[in-house]
This record gives sequence, structure tokens and C-alpha cells, in this order.
Amino acid sequence: MPITCVVGILWGDEGKGKVIDFLAAETDFIVRYGGGHNAGHTLVLPSGKLVLNLVPSGIVHAHTVNVIGNGVVVDPIHLCAEIDKLRERGLEVELGRNLLVSERAHVILEAHRRQDQWAENLRGSGKIGTTGRGIGPAYSDRCSRVGLRVGDLLRKGRLEQTLHVLAQQKNSWFAAAGMPPLDVTTMARELGAAGDKLRAGIADTGAVLRAAHGAGKRILLEGAQGCLLDLEHGTYPFVTSSHASTGGAFSGTGLPPHAMRVIGIAKAYATRVGEGPFPTELKDDLGNRLRTAGNEYGSATGRPRRCGWFDTVAVRYSSAVSGANELVLTNLDVLRGFSPLRIGVAYRLPDGRRTTDLPAFELEGVVPEFVDLPGFDQDLRAVREFEALPPKAQAYVQALEQHTGLPIRTISVGPERKQLILR
Ligand code: IMP
Repeated sequence: MPITCVVGILWGDEGKGKVIDFLAAETDFIVRYGGGHNAGHTLVLPSGKLVLNLVPSGIVHAHTVNVIGNGVVVDPIHLCAEIDKLRERGLEVELGRNLLVSERAHVILEAHRRQDQWAENLRGSGKIGTTGRGIGPAYSDRCSRVGLRVGDLLRKGRLEQTLHVLAQQKNSWFAAAGMPPLDVTTMARELGAAGDKLRAGIADTGAVLRAAHGAGKRILLEGAQGCLLDLEHGTYPFVTSSHASTGGAFSGTGLPPHAMRVIGIAKAYATRVGEGPFPTELKDDLGNRLRTAGNEYGSATGRPRRCGWFDTVAVRYSSAVSGANELVLTNLDVLRGFSPLRIGVAYRLPDGRRTTDLPAFELEGVVPEFVDLPGFDQDLRAVREFEALPPKAQAYVQALEQHTGLPIRTISVGPERKQLILR
């Protein structure tokens, strides 16, 4: 049984949650493989909207097992609160049955949050615009081999020992930065209590997933953020600290690289939260109009998203890096009333050369080249068949296929599960 991986093609917020929710009906295991509670997946439940940061979106489907993989950085206190919130909304969350957390996943501490915010302040005008949730420092500690893993929360001796080493390192540094020292006793108590709450769900999830794959179970890997926020392949340094593209799907789950169907999710236009280059960005009123039409505000932090035109240079690059062989197009309905519809097809580099490849440097200085198509005025939200779309909307989708070289078989025209066009 092939494994399916869903990745965001640009800088996240492409609507992966809705696509995963749709695919969940035919899935046994849904696995988050990277990122932390910097992500925000909005679900539309009968009781209203719900934003999930860590728990995979499959939790709303009774039959799925949801796994927080080893590549995720977990704030255990945030996770406990998220589980409580889901239960309050009437959803069944049974640790060990429908929710598992990798014992190898690294833990985000209050200290990481402080470091994140401190580092951002220090960067001044060069700031990354992080979510301030400690993601980067937690991954740094993982690389420096001083991190705390979720399994440590269940081992009192190891928990205290690791916290002592961490406090020794960080306290001298916090003192120099004028911040209060870490209190190991309080941290050990709070983290131990969170570990006790999560105990039934903490598992060797890699082994569970390998066995499930061997038994022919259907596995869906849920990427967080997007390919252009990938630590290695994204718009460095304006990236997150995990491998958000498909590469992270193997290291972040413990599944070997079997044949994988990769679905790239792309919005019908482009958005980005935080700082960093964004060649097709609309910095004028049109960008504001797009933000309002698409309600483009971050679901984890509420920050306004920067908006711009569809960028086929960036989409082709990310599709190649992630191995996406098809695109799901979201938010097509949002483009109603915008005309012309512009599609970025190439960049003019600062030295005057034209390229259709995404450069690793000087992306800030490129000038995009566009092709323009006439826009459509009709409301698309009730359309369920491609042929029923206005011809100008059809032509726009076909142009995106032509310029990206990827088929678009699924189009989302609204936030609800049923607002999908399957070709
Ligand atoms: P960090 O992940 O908090 O370190 O932030 C690094 C960059 O990734 C910032 O530009 C954030 O805005 C961006 N980012 C992190 N998570 C998300 C997400 O889920 N959606 C969109 N952008 C994100």
C-alpha cells in the first residue's frame, strides 16, 4: 500500500488541513512529521472552527490513528491543553488508541520560547518573523545533543539530569542577557506531570508505523509549513528549523523511503507570514484586497499574511524538491472579481539575466515576469464540477497546469469539506 504525503508548496497555509480531512476517509494512520505548535490547521466542525497546532487533523475521524512523529518538536504542556480543548468540543481523544506521540520527539521548553524571542529582538531589522514559540532553539538543542525527548518525561532521573545540563548551559547565558535563571525543580515537576498525562500515548511510533505499513495499512503523512520554509531547501535564513518538504517525511517518522504519492497543496495565489523574500508579493491595495477576500490571517498567531500572485517559478522548484506529482489547488473562489489574474512565470535577476529557476541567493532583488489572464466575476462556492466553472476560471487553472507542468485534479472552492471539485 503506497504512503501518501501532503506538503505545502510555498510558505505554508495552503489549506493542507482541509485536504487531509478529505483524504482521511480512506486512511488508517495520519502522521505529522515535522514542525511544532508553530503550525495551525483550521478545522470546520459542526460546532464551529477549531485550530489544531500539534494533533493531526485526522482526529475528527473516528477510525484513524493519529501520530505525532519523532520529527515534531512537542511542547507537552501545549499538547495537553490541545487535547483538553478537543475533548471539550466533544471529540474522542484516547491516548494509545487514536493518538500516539513519538518517544523520540524532542521537547520544547519555556527556555526555548525565551531564546526564540530574544534572538528575534537581537536580529532587529533582519528578523525572521518567527512565531516566537521556541521552534528554532528546540531544534538547535536537538542538533547540539542536549535536547530533552518526550520519552525522558517518563523517566524521572533522566528528566532531572537533562534539565540540569540544560540549565547549566542556558543560565549563564540567560544571566548575560538579563533574563531570570531556569528553575529546574519547577520545570521537572511540570514536565513530569505533563508526561504522566500523556503516558498512555507515548510510544515507539516508528516501529508502530513500520508494522502498519507491513500490514498494508494506509498511511498519510501530514507536512507542516511548506517547502519554501524547509531548513535546507527554503528561502534561508527566512525559514523554519525543520525539514518541511518531503525529505523530512522519512527522517521525521522512521518510515523507510518506500514509493510515495506526494500531493502538493498550492493556493490559487501566494501568501507568506513573517519576513523573507516573496517575489510576486502585492504590496499595494490589491494585496490588502486579497488578504480580506481570503481572510489571510495566521491561524496559529493571527498575524496578517502577505499576499501575492501565483508564482510558477517557486511552485515548480518546490514540486521538484518534494517530488510532488500533482497539485491540489485551494481558494480558487477567493479570486472572484480580480482582473487581470497574473501568473508569475520567470524572474529577471539583478544582473539582468532571465531565469525560470529559483535562486538560492538574491531572491529579494528579482523582478517577476507575469502572464495576464482575464478574471472571473462569478461566485464559485457552489460549483462541484470543473466544466461548471466559468470559462475564465477554467482557463486560469489550465494555465497553472501548463506553467507548472503538474496536473490539478482537485480544486477547493470554500472551507467546507464538500466544497471540492474532483476532475
Ligand atoms: P518558526 O517556525 O516559528 O521558527 O518561524 C520561522 C518562519 O516560519 C516564520 O516566517 C514563520 O512565520 C513561518 N512559519 C512557521 N510556521 C508556519 C505555519 O504553520 N504557516 C506559515 N508560516 C509559518
